[in-house]
Amino acid sequence: MSIGATTRLAGVMGWPVSHSLSPALHNRWLKRYGIDGAYVPLPVSPEHFPQALRLLAQMGFRGVNVTVPHKEAALHAVDRIDDQARRIGAVNTVVMGEDGSLIGRNTDGEGFLAALRARVPGAVPEGVCVLIGAGGAARAIAVALLDSGVEALLIVNRGAERATALAMALRASFPEARIQTVNWVHRAETLAEASLVVNTTSLGMVGMPPLDLSLDALGKSAIVYDIVYNPLKTPLLARAEAEGHRIVGGLGMLLHQAVPGFEAWFGVRPEVDEALEAFLAARIAPPPCP
Ligand code: ATR
Repeated sequence: MSIGATTRLAGVMGWPVSHSLSPALHNRWLKRYGIDGAYVPLPVSPEHFPQALRLLAQMGFRGVNVTVPHKEAALHAVDRIDDQARRIGAVNTVVMGEDGSLIGRNTDGEGFLAALRARVPGAVPEGVCVLIGAGGAARAIAVALLDSGVEALLIVNRGAERATALAMALRASFPEARIQTVNWVHRAETLAEASLVVNTTSLGMVGMPPLDLSLDALGKSAIVYDIVYNPLKTPLLARAEAEGHRIVGGLGMLLHQAVPGFEAWFGVRPEVDEALEAFLAARIAPPPCP
């Protein structure tokens, strides 16, 4: 790769950002499509974030992804936000105009749905969906599910206050939908009606305890989706698969949420295929040395 005056630039802003898989992903796409571009990690502290975002636009960057802890601050640091970002209450993708203007988008929900369709062909979120967790990821997924017209959304969170706050925020955007909170102690029973269960907490992630959730009440046709991608197959997914459920891991969402940003910055809609998944998977769980 040679970088010159015409090279289009994009990156990911986070604090820290060294763990991000986005540079590997976007630079692989740039290479694959023969685009004169580069995507760089940009470690930026919260106090410098708004100014740094503005300066990148002035320096000719096409845009950036925004990750922890800047996703909510980005809402107020851009000039305009799209409907998804407004309803999710966070920005994960910024598109920079030639006049230096900043447009904030949120592609997490879109990525969640695209990964579901890719892993379970023909799957359409419908009926009753159960969300485990009530943080930022849960909110993006809740908006995507409600946009898809699911019959009901049940939110189960360890901390009841956060579940209630999320339900209230969602009801403001989706006044017609059935949105309920469920006490953490009743999480297993609540699965009886569900067609889709999504773990949006960090439980099951490497270094964290597994999600303690009995699947006994869950109908066999229900899909179990875990947005954790390290490990690629969490203990929850392994159990769900052994019990005959269709499962979706978190890697697909990570890949699919990146597609709209790449397209906006570099002008090509990139493909997510098995080779790309294997490339990223090897970075998450490197194969053992021979
Ligand atoms: P993100 O933006 O990635 O969703 P977050 O906003 O910090 O991250 O949300 C983390 C979610 O994981 C929350 O729903 C949190 O539950 P609380 O609101 O009760 O804190 C959930 N979570 C994290 N650790 C947990 C644990 N040990 N048991 C149950 N839930 C946990």
